[in-house]
Amino acid sequence: MTPELLPFHQASIGEEEVKEIIQTLNSGWLTTGQKTRLFEKTFADYIGCKHAIGLNSCTSGLHLSLVVSGVSSGDEVITSPITFPATTNVIVHQNAKPVFVDVEPETLNINCSEIESKINDSTKAILPVHFAGHPCDMDTIISLAQKHNLTVIEDAAHALESKYHGNKIGAIGNFTAFSFYATKNITTGEGGMLTTNDDHYADKLRILSLHGISKNAWKRYGKEGFQHWELLMPGYKYNMFDVQASLGIHQIKKVESFLNRRVQIVKKYNDAFEKTEEIQLLKPESNIKHAHHLYVIVIKTENLKVSRDKVLNEIQKRGIGVAVHFRSLHLQPFFKQHFNYKKGMFPQAEYLSDRVISLPLYPKMTDEDVSRVIETVLGVLHSFRQ
Ligand SMILES: Cc1ncc(COP(=O)(O)O)c(C=O)c1O
Repeated sequence: MTPELLPFHQASIGEEEVKEIIQTLNSGWLTTGQKTRLFEKTFADYIGCKHAIGLNSCTSGLHLSLVVSGVSSGDEVITSPITFPATTNVIVHQNAKPVFVDVEPETLNINCSEIESKINDSTKAILPVHFAGHPCDMDTIISLAQKHNLTVIEDAAHALESKYHGNKIGAIGNFTAFSFYATKNITTGEGGMLTTNDDHYADKLRILSLHGISKNAWKRYGKEGFQHWELLMPGYKYNMFDVQASLGIHQIKKVESFLNRRVQIVKKYNDAFEKTEEIQLLKPESNIKHAHHLYVIVIKTENLKVSRDKVLNEIQKRGIGVAVHFRSLHLQPFFKQHFNYKKGMFPQAEYLSDRVISLPLYPKMTDEDVSRVIETVLGVLHSFRQ
């Protein structure tokens, strides 16, 4: 009999969220309004930044950051190849070039010691990705950005709770984009938030996120009397709306309790896997707070009879949902065809691309679920041992 599948991820949605959504639907005001503003305010307080702008995704936050930074045709943006396509698609949408730098094997974050050699007159920004919730080496990134006059746009899709040397991610670089996609540490189904401490850019980002017009609907239809909007710049339709925010205002209150449960699960996984020959664990640095968005193991395929994909397939067949974060982007057809990236260019990213497996990690998991994952992974690896 096939065992019931433990999903790779399940969102934790409580009664509060359900009630809030119903209240929003019944209120008749569904688009961007008071609930979005409340979520933005609560989020900014949590991060400790001046401005948080609610958006429909992290991707749009990254895109708007590039737009206001003036990244355009012929420019270059330095980033990591171990990421989701959203990170680089937005660079390409600006007709700029994603310039990859290899990753560190212990964290899968961009290797900051290799960034400077990639900086030239066309470089406009550094776009670090805090992989799995482990902050990148922000001291080096900020000092390189200052030295070469570059903008720092952080992809914090995984890094909501992360801190670097005691400073919250979201209050360090020029712009930071967070994700509330269905599998993220907190969720609004789809959604994102962009943070910045810069007043001038915050206004511009807000305007750009809603068509480029001067007044949003909440202001136009308010009690202050009729108000015309004015088109100030050609903007985008990237705004968060109150149905999403109805989830967000409750999810954000639970962010640290969700993290505490994930930390317990991580500890159980680490204890079970640290002495397993076929597994290499990532090594977090000291002096950071990890958001533990993903639990990634590196399978030493040299010690096995089969490839990582066979291991993945067998774990899933035995009833555990698994995922891969990520296969290096430079080897995707688009990058090979349009930017001439080739195998051999980023050895660490390539090695890890063929070996990483992400295991389920979410607060809804019971201790029995965690034990089942551990037994299944060890059982599969044992069966494929050389
Ligand atoms: C590293 C990374 N960046 C960006 C994104 C895009 O997030 P969103 O779906 O909110 O646009 C994701 C989504 O999974 C991601 O993993």
